[in-house]
Amino acid sequence: MSSPIAYLWVKAFHIIFVMSWMAGLFYLPRLFVNHAMESNPAAQERLALMERKLFRFTTGLAHLAIIFGLWLMLGFHIGGGWLHAKLALVVALIVYHVWCGRVMRDFAAGRNKRSHVWYRWFNEIPALLMFAIVILVVVKPF
Ligand code: HEM
Repeated sequence: MSSPIAYLWVKAFHIIFVMSWMAGLFYLPRLFVNHAMESNPAAQERLALMERKLFRFTTGLAHLAIIFGLWLMLGFHIGGGWLHAKLALVVALIVYHVWCGRVMRDFAAGRNKRSHVWYRWFNEIPALLMFAIVILVVVKPF
């Protein structure tokens, strides 16, 4: 399973699941921004339900993105300094994902102390990581 066509299929699925993972990581903190501004209990409950469903779905996509990435790396023997740097940023993205899970649980338990402004900045982190990751893997600067 290491033909050039197989490599392209695996990479296509990697990119599809990476894009979907990023879409979830861009939208989830937006819900946190709205949740931090919300004082109506029914609306807060609805936001908590949306966060829980989106987090579960996004976690599944993250697993698939990583499985296809590892398949590319190990199945097609791809390596280099750029990939080491990329994997370090992917670890940061996974930490951010887990952190979102903790924030989601804090909101659901009414424990959130942070403001909507804080979550607007928090929301920028995955975008910055994605910029760096995509530049590393496409340009391969080192
Ligand atoms: C453990 C996680 C990951 C691993 C092991 C991994 C590994 C790889 C490998 C080996 C390639 C093929 C590179 C090539 O043949 O030129 C690749 C392609 C790619 N990866 Fe990942 N990746 C991971 C996560 C991510 C994430 C989180 C993103 C984006 C946020 C990402 C974006 C891309 C893109 C856009 C390509 C296609 C590059 C191209 O066609 O030139 N990857 N990945």
